[in-house]
Amino acid sequence: MTAERTRQLGDGTSIPMLGLGVWQVRNGKSAVNAVRWALELGYRHIDTAQLYGNEESVGRALQESGVPREEVYLTTKFQPNSKDPVAELERSLKRLGVDQVDLYLVHWPKGGPLRAWPGMEQAKERGLTRSVGVSNYSAADLDQVIKAASVPPVVNQVQFSAVEYRRGLLEAGEAHGVVTEAYSPLGTGRHLRDRRVADVAARAGRTPAQVLIRWCLQHGLPVIPKSTHRERIEENAGVFDFALPEADMAALDALDETGGTSAARRDKWW
Ligand code: A2P
Repeated sequence: MTAERTRQLGDGTSIPMLGLGVWQVRNGKSAVNAVRWALELGYRHIDTAQLYGNEESVGRALQESGVPREEVYLTTKFQPNSKDPVAELERSLKRLGVDQVDLYLVHWPKGGPLRAWPGMEQAKERGLTRSVGVSNYSAADLDQVIKAASVPPVVNQVQFSAVEYRRGLLEAGEAHGVVTEAYSPLGTGRHLRDRRVADVAARAGRTPAQVLIRWCLQHGLPVIPKSTHRERIEENAGVFDFALPEADMAALDALDETGGTSAARRDKWW
């Protein structure tokens, strides 16, 4: 029931289990502050995307933090309304002020799960990213890309939490050697108000956010809670010095409202 701080991926690299997500954080002061605080507080994993429009701020905070580049795991995502993953990653690298990211994900399977993949493989071959993966891919999408790929994806980043316990999708990833990474582990804040989460938190002597993040860790899921508040960013990192007993893990597992689905989303936006 211990949770490791990093997890090895299928290509031999390692991903820190806890990262800061910056979805919906505005470019500029909010994003720079959030990332700077996270790095000060010991986070070594930042998750952004071309679509978020805040890569410049992530890069600025990284530079200002003084934390060496090689100590920070950096993820960005290909915005698949664009055509060319290589050209778009080159632009991302300029905005981020780095030579390479650690992980580059297809943000969603626009135009089908295979459309962007050859370009993703090229991005890795050219050394613009250490690892490649996908996001918002269902088990069926994963199957397709695994069958066709010469470089397989090592991560599938999806909406995942106790209330969205996509067991089928998690198992499909495991069967293919693809690590499932959890975004929106707090249900974008909604699950923090769930009385049943509060009950588990009270028993653990922890906050609801810590319990929901810890649930991901104990399922082996790298997790990227988002916050723009320093005290919350700090709170969300306090998840490595306690463990949820099996009964409480089971109580949280039972909150699932997806029926253990192998789909990545209830509603597709593409
Ligand atoms: P804020 O950014 O204003 O701090 P998720 O990671 O599931 O997408 O959830 C993010 C949402 O949860 C954001 O609205 C964030 O608000 C809020 N949040 C993040 N951490 C905490 C926390 N420890 N306590 C309360 N709210 C939090």
